[in-house]
Amino acid sequence: MVADVPEIWKSLEQTPIGASVRESLWLFPAVETLHLLGMAVLVAAVGAFDVRLLGLAMRGVRVSELARRLFPWAWAAFAVQVVTGFLLFSSEATRMVVNPAFRIKMVLIALAGVHAAAFRWIACRDMAEWEAESRTPIRAKIAGLISILLWVGVVAAGRWIGFI
Ligand code: HEM
Repeated sequence: MVADVPEIWKSLEQTPIGASVRESLWLFPAVETLHLLGMAVLVAAVGAFDVRLLGLAMRGVRVSELARRLFPWAWAAFAVQVVTGFLLFSSEATRMVVNPAFRIKMVLIALAGVHAAAFRWIACRDMAEWEAESRTPIRAKIAGLISILLWVGVVAAGRWIGFI
């Protein structure tokens, strides 16, 4: 436990959930395994969509069709990340809140959320038009590139947590 952190994180670590994840021989690795599997599904779903936006693959598939198929997977995987991430966090909250890699990761996840909302608002409002003309506007391609960079950052920061 890190001493000079707000009480709330010390209390979270002492909750039955935090203590059992921390003290169990198998719970932490099992939850972290689920966290890695959730990451794989989330990054695969978002990555495939972004690669299509960039026009690097699946050019014959409509962007709206790909969104319809992939976004449910991305949202389900994101839910798994939040639940498993919170369990991991609760077991070592005082160490995590002072860990620069963890902080960077949380900022990048928030930015990825804002970016997804902006994409919906800016690039999707006239999607029917640009799909009908079989072209992908540059703003959608830029959105795809930014999304890939943000999620690669989240994964790298997540991995980096264990090295600080
Ligand atoms: C949303 C997408 C997320 C992705 C792609 C992601 C990815 C990762 C990765 C790759 C690791 C490293 C695993 C390892 O070293 O074996 C990790 C660790 C971790 N993640 Fe996440 N994560 C996400 C969300 C979250 C959230 C929302 C939280 C907290 C609320 C969280 C908390 C943690 C913690 C505490 C660790 C460190 C575990 C340790 O001590 O090794 N993650 N994450």
